[in-house]
Amino acid sequence: MDTKDVAVLKLNDTTEVSVHLHGATIISWKCKAQEVLFVSKNALFDNKKAIRGGIPLVFPCFGPWEKGPQHGFARIKRWRKESESKQNNGRASMSFSLEDDEETRKMWDYRFKLVYNVDLGENDLKLTLTVNNNDFKAFDFTTLMHTYFRCPDIADVGIHGLEGLQYNDKVEGGKISKEERKVVSIDKNYDRVYMKCGADKVEVEGLGDGKKSVSLVLSNLPDVVVWNPWEDKAKAMSDFGDEEYKTMICVEAGSVSQSVTAPAGGSVLFTQTLKLC
Ligand code: BG6
Repeated sequence: MDTKDVAVLKLNDTTEVSVHLHGATIISWKCKAQEVLFVSKNALFDNKKAIRGGIPLVFPCFGPWEKGPQHGFARIKRWRKESESKQNNGRASMSFSLEDDEETRKMWDYRFKLVYNVDLGENDLKLTLTVNNNDFKAFDFTTLMHTYFRCPDIADVGIHGLEGLQYNDKVEGGKISKEERKVVSIDKNYDRVYMKCGADKVEVEGLGDGKKSVSLVLSNLPDVVVWNPWEDKAKAMSDFGDEEYKTMICVEAGSVSQSVTAPAGGSVLFTQTLKLC
């Protein structure tokens, strides 16, 4: 990996976040010396393929897309670093942007500007994506923050806050079911879109050194995707280690089950705050 491609924001000696300009992908969040995110040992940093791990950004389409690549183009375009600042309240932030160009307009003919603000605190990481429609016509999109968390053992991971929610099970061909469990554990290939999640209900335990939890505080991101490829799908992915499904879980906040409309000249904001406890 070329260090020129990575922007590092340091809050203090033990807390920092690193953002790769390819996709504005967050590739590391160290919080009190604890790495929270998973990046595959086989991840490619060739500025072409989406980075396998961290927090890639999905826009303007979640999943397969008839107009362009799976999960859209935002995660495979080069973003520009716009600013960096340290605030008096003990936080620090950086922001990145991506605008339409000839390549994006060929796939998706709209003028837009995405602004991604990465705001680091002592115990949390606040991520805000602003979708600006710079066109004279409205556009529809779906978006998601594709967070890969690291864990020492997937058997000890539990996801709280999904009980009672409807989910679309992509492994079962899109079957809609209701989650009955208080704590969701992972013991097979999971690919589920949980819908209408509470803004501050979802919490993932068993992360970091195994004793840490991360809570998700969400604004305008009603869906949470839970994904783990498990054994067979892991083997089929060239940029993912065969055994790595045991040490990661994706819990991805998005707005994907229904598309969002950005009116002509308007903006839409999405925020996820990850809090480590
Ligand atoms: C998840 C999707 O968000 O991302 C899965 O729900 C998909 O269906 C996974 O397999 C990984 O996608 P990709 O394109 O990064 O391999």
